[in-house]
Amino acid sequence: MYNIEDTKKLLEKRLSKKRYVHSLNVAEQCKILSNLAKLSPEDTARCYYAGLVHDICKELPTQEMKKMVVATNSNFPVSRSELASKPLWHSIAGAYYVKEVLGVTDSDVINAVRFHTVARSGMTKIEEIVYMADLISADRDYKDVKRMRKLAYADLDLAMFEALKFSIVDITGKNGLIPHYTIEAYNQYAYMYKNKFAK
Ligand SMILES: [Fe+2]
Ligand SMILES: [Fe+2]
Repeated sequence: MYNIEDTKKLLEKRLSKKRYVHSLNVAEQCKILSNLAKLSPEDTARCYYAGLVHDICKELPTQEMKKMVVATNSNFPVSRSELASKPLWHSIAGAYYVKEVLGVTDSDVINAVRFHTVARSGMTKIEEIVYMADLISADRDYKDVKRMRKLAYADLDLAMFEALKFSIVDITGKNGLIPHYTIEAYNQYAYMYKNKFAK
């Protein structure tokens, strides 16, 4: 299994104190959400590790990040809109780093890092939990964080739907580009919402 102590040491070297604390907080939220989702101890450990490393490339110089984004060779190609949005690069670079440098072969962990910014349709439970844990970690203080936390603890699917709606509105408010991964994710939860609640 993953060596958590060594990973924490690596993160301490690569990240500012603030980002390191954020990473620990996200990992803690992963544990909480995994327990609520009744994941096995093994899956909870995988989820905790993914939460810990999700921002591992966040503070790299842009050029270094870009190299990894360009070198990405996965089933999930980097979209044009992602290439045009620098704040998204760290998740793509992070997945590359985790896979190629740390030698992680667990696709849930790699994809959880890859999609913690844009989401995608067909996310596994571990990917969803990391996405949500990043939004509700203890260091987050945006206006609706308490409501989001409550929702995530009560109904992860509905929380994903709300988070994606929020994200899309936020992007359009800034005249930004919406990656197709995000739109497809939104549609998936919108269908789910229709079936689950609109009867
Ligand atoms: Fe991030
Ligand atoms: Fe993060």
